[in-house]
Amino acid sequence: MENFMFYAPTKIFFGKGSIKNLPAEILKHSDNVLFVYGGGSIKKTGLYEKITNLFKENGISCKELPGVEPNPKIESVREGVRLCREHKLGGVVAAGGGSTVDCAKVIAAAVSYDGDPWDIILDGSKVKSCLPVFDVITLAATGTEMNGNAVISNMSVNDKKALHDDRVKPVCSVLDPEYTFTVSKFQTASGTADIMSHIFEVYFSRAEGTLVQDGISEALLKICIECGKKAVDNPEDYEARANLLWASSLAINGLTGCGKPEPWSCHSMEHQLSAYYDITHGAGLAVLTPAWMKFLIRRNNISKLVSYGVNVLGIDAALPDVQIAEEAAGRTAEFFCSIGIPATLSELGVGTEHIEDMARKSFEEGMENAYEPMSETDIIEIYKSCM
Ligand code: NZQ
Ligand code: ZN
Repeated sequence: MENFMFYAPTKIFFGKGSIKNLPAEILKHSDNVLFVYGGGSIKKTGLYEKITNLFKENGISCKELPGVEPNPKIESVREGVRLCREHKLGGVVAAGGGSTVDCAKVIAAAVSYDGDPWDIILDGSKVKSCLPVFDVITLAATGTEMNGNAVISNMSVNDKKALHDDRVKPVCSVLDPEYTFTVSKFQTASGTADIMSHIFEVYFSRAEGTLVQDGISEALLKICIECGKKAVDNPEDYEARANLLWASSLAINGLTGCGKPEPWSCHSMEHQLSAYYDITHGAGLAVLTPAWMKFLIRRNNISKLVSYGVNVLGIDAALPDVQIAEEAAGRTAEFFCSIGIPATLSELGVGTEHIEDMARKSFEEGMENAYEPMSETDIIEIYKSCM
């Protein structure tokens, strides 16, 4: 196991009614904040009213930034920065899915930077300081509620890139599984695929001796398979939603990746799909992941796939390794289909016209830590096999 530093400063309030803790946490930092939310789901569910009432009752004033898009766009960040500066706001509160929280994080990091916010996405060293970020997460998927990542799209240059900075880790996050009851079946399934991919991306690593990380990863993967299906079948299954939500935070708060080089092969391929076709992140990953597993089999790099097959999927360990690996890749694809995600990228609206550009950009994201090195040609092959 390599040396590591683990830093997870976010205070988590988990469970029914835990939103009552939010105002006191905000007031430790500011009584004048930016309230960021998405396209309207929080208004339909009543969460908007709940939060604005809590603000009023506790003397917190806010300016609002509504309408943050799925795959949040740099234009929303620019508008949020403008509001923070104009009204001298002292914190950013997001309510919604990962897109809303990511937008809030980049706003918080860009307020003190004089140039265009896209600059800090391209070069994180330009971040000087950050406003405190708070969130009420409403979708189990990205784990943004406990990490220092924020992914923003700039459609004018077909780019989707991440800022990584410990200072944007939320001060506190409210995780109430009931707020996720209204997530659609498709978004629930895509969120499940995203959580699983966050685990796969570090589980499939060249690191040796990471028994704790691998054991936690395998347990979380089993929970995703069980609870993802239950939540899709019965959206108001509290325990399924609760476990999925907590799994989403633990999958990508640094815990499972401690002491490992982090290759993130499928994410770098998926971010290109979202950047060109604005598709749902988790759904793209669900199609790419089994295809990438088959690539591992073609390269005869199957030891981790075998562990996953036996320890997570319960495939008979007595079978030949290649058969276990093939079955593991096949069952992973079947699982994603069984929860309602299309099996091909074409069904998600992806065409073949940008494959070369996407492969080049994905390759440029850096493959140096890749579990199995991929050339641009390999990436093209994987994209094509998903059509
Ligand atoms: O916009 P609203 O109206 O809120 O609707 C959203 C949106 O349409 C809806 N939704 C969210 N909570 C809901 C709900 N609908 C009903 N009831 C609820 N409780 O779901 C739709 C998708 O929301 P979005 O925030 O886009 O989804 P998600 O949480 O999957 O976030 C995806 C974004 O996060 C990035 C992705 O690339 C993508 O841009 N990621 C962020 C990461 C991070 N910060 O660590 C890591 C991930 O790998 C990922 O890249
Ligand atoms: Zn992801």
